[in-house]
Amino acid sequence: MSQQRCIVIFALVCCFAILVALIFSAVDIMGEDEDGLSEKNCQNNCRVALVENIPEGINYSDSAPSHLSLFQGWMNLLNMAEKSVDIVSSQWDLNHSHPSACQGQRLFEKLLELASRNIEIKLVSDKLPVESKVLNDLKTKGAEVLYMNMSAYNEGRLQSSFWIVDKQHVYIGSASLDWRSLGQMKELGVIVYNCSCLVLDLQRIFALYSSLRYKNKIPPSWSKRLYGVYDTQNKLTLQLNETKSEAFVSNSPKLFCPKDRVLDIEAIYSVIDDAKQFVYIAVMDYLPIVIDTNAKRYWPYLDGKIREALVLRSIKVRLLISFSRDTDPLTFNFVSSLKAICTEVPSCSLKVKFFDLEEESACFLKEQKNTSLPKLNRNKYMVTDGAAYIGNFDWVGNAFTQNAGAGLVINQADAGNSTSIIKQLKAVFERDWYSHYAKSLQPTKIPNCFNHKLNKGTSNKTAMSNVN
Ligand SMILES: *[C@@H]1O[C@H](CO)[C@@H](O)[C@H](O)[C@H]1NC(C)=O
Ligand SMILES: *[C@@H]1O[C@H](CO)[C@@H](O)[C@H](O)[C@H]1NC(C)=O
Ligand SMILES: *[C@@H]1O[C@H](CO)[C@@H](O)[C@H](O)[C@H]1NC(C)=O
Ligand SMILES: *[C@@H]1O[C@H](CO)[C@@H](O)[C@H](O)[C@H]1NC(C)=O
Ligand SMILES: *[C@@H]1O[C@H](CO)[C@@H](O)[C@H](O)[C@H]1NC(C)=O
Ligand SMILES: *[C@@H]1O[C@H](CO)[C@@H](O)[C@H](O)[C@H]1NC(C)=O
Ligand SMILES: *[C@@H]1O[C@H](CO)[C@@H](O)[C@H](O)[C@H]1NC(C)=O
Ligand SMILES: *[C@@H]1O[C@H](CO)[C@@H](O)[C@H](O)[C@H]1NC(C)=O
Repeated sequence: MSQQRCIVIFALVCCFAILVALIFSAVDIMGEDEDGLSEKNCQNNCRVALVENIPEGINYSDSAPSHLSLFQGWMNLLNMAEKSVDIVSSQWDLNHSHPSACQGQRLFEKLLELASRNIEIKLVSDKLPVESKVLNDLKTKGAEVLYMNMSAYNEGRLQSSFWIVDKQHVYIGSASLDWRSLGQMKELGVIVYNCSCLVLDLQRIFALYSSLRYKNKIPPSWSKRLYGVYDTQNKLTLQLNETKSEAFVSNSPKLFCPKDRVLDIEAIYSVIDDAKQFVYIAVMDYLPIVIDTNAKRYWPYLDGKIREALVLRSIKVRLLISFSRDTDPLTFNFVSSLKAICTEVPSCSLKVKFFDLEEESACFLKEQKNTSLPKLNRNKYMVTDGAAYIGNFDWVGNAFTQNAGAGLVINQADAGNSTSIIKQLKAVFERDWYSHYAKSLQPTKIPNCFNHKLNKGTSNKTAMSNVN
């Protein structure tokens, strides 16, 4: 008898446990944050625009393509905001006395105004409000600051830079909330309007960051609400202006990738693998190494992928890297090594150029007189004959292994369509590539100050012997 009762009680407890589990998982899937938004009812008839910050004094030919300015694009987004503004940024430095900082100040004032108008503003930052006057002022006006203790995970940094406005519009790109991004830095990003389907997925990266606020540990498992919605196999199908497209977002580092979330490196792989003719890459830095606190190691993944595309698939590769006094001298070694792979392979086509916004002749002077602020091309994108990837990372090992960042991949079968964002991005790449700022630096013609730096490197026992 008591045995029977035991069995009955046990069965009841089991039923109850299963019921509780079911209820919790259902609640978890629905998620109160997503405002009833789902893959079925979201908007996928979207508009898209490239946004760029072109520093003053940069001159292209009159026929060169030009796009909405980053400042105007951001202000438009803020002017549209009726309910919420979510911003993830690596920098919070908008107010400065430099003459080129006025747009940063205006953006700051606009954000303060929105905060005081009771628009819900959430800011993800790896700085505490006490460490940034901008964050602190916004917090005082009512914005919520979600601090992520990046140093507690992987010793990384928050490099992500994206916005979500009214759960409908999205910005993603190289620029962060830094007055320099609206001043002397060359930046590129994309704004997608009326696209709650894309928001559905990007919002989950935002929610993941938000779930980590003020925590010093990654949870042992992620809530289902944070899983990726779209991935390389299951892309979001959408209209971007009049062009049929597919898209998904990617995230880094691996530590921050729950189930179904594509890593940035996988996103880049997929874009290169899908290319049939060419891959154009524009990044500030190209350095396939990881520098740990006490050691450097080769980080071969993207370097290897380029080699494979060049030699085994005859894809034409163009690599546009920024050149400045801070460019790591090893960049030239890796680039020379990449070029060498094409030796005696007729169908192998790699060209590398360095984008130099500082006058070459002034280079030597600048090394002595470091008061002037440098102008830099900080673009971080890749475009092929059928796809584009716009992200937050330069192609540097440390970024992908340690830092938090996000990316957007767009595929278009008809990339020749006049409303194709891919066609526009290709034109932007070509504008820069054929401009007088892009130079094919030969090791023997590296400007004076750079040689100076190289020599210092050599004396420091860095392996620099094969530069010539
Ligand atoms: C840009 O300006 C430089 C120097 O002022 C000049 O040499 C060059 O021809 C200009 N380029 C274009 C495309 O206008
Ligand atoms: C920006 O900084 C200046 C001083 O450098 C200060 O007077 C001004 O109030 C600041 N602007 C805002 C919006 O805080
Ligand atoms: C961030 O994490 C580090 C390492 O776990 C810890 O020492 C530090 O106190 C944390 N900072 C904050 C503000 O929580
Ligand atoms: C977004 O959709 C709304 C409503 O359909 C429309 O009024 C607005 O112009 C659209 N925005 C853009 C940028 O296309
Ligand atoms: C190309 O653009 C036109 C409008 O300019 C549009 O009607 C057509 O559907 C587009 N083609 C594709 C494949 O997206
Ligand atoms: C370069 O800048 C640093 C810090 O801004 C300063 O301490 C240093 O004296 C400057 N060097 C020269 C040569 O002007
Ligand atoms: C898409 O349409 C918007 C206007 O709604 C325009 O500003 C933008 O440049 C267009 N984008 C492309 C890729 O044609
Ligand atoms: C030389 O090495 C030291 C320690 O490894 C480093 O701090 C320094 O920046 C290096 N100097 C140059 C010119 O690379």
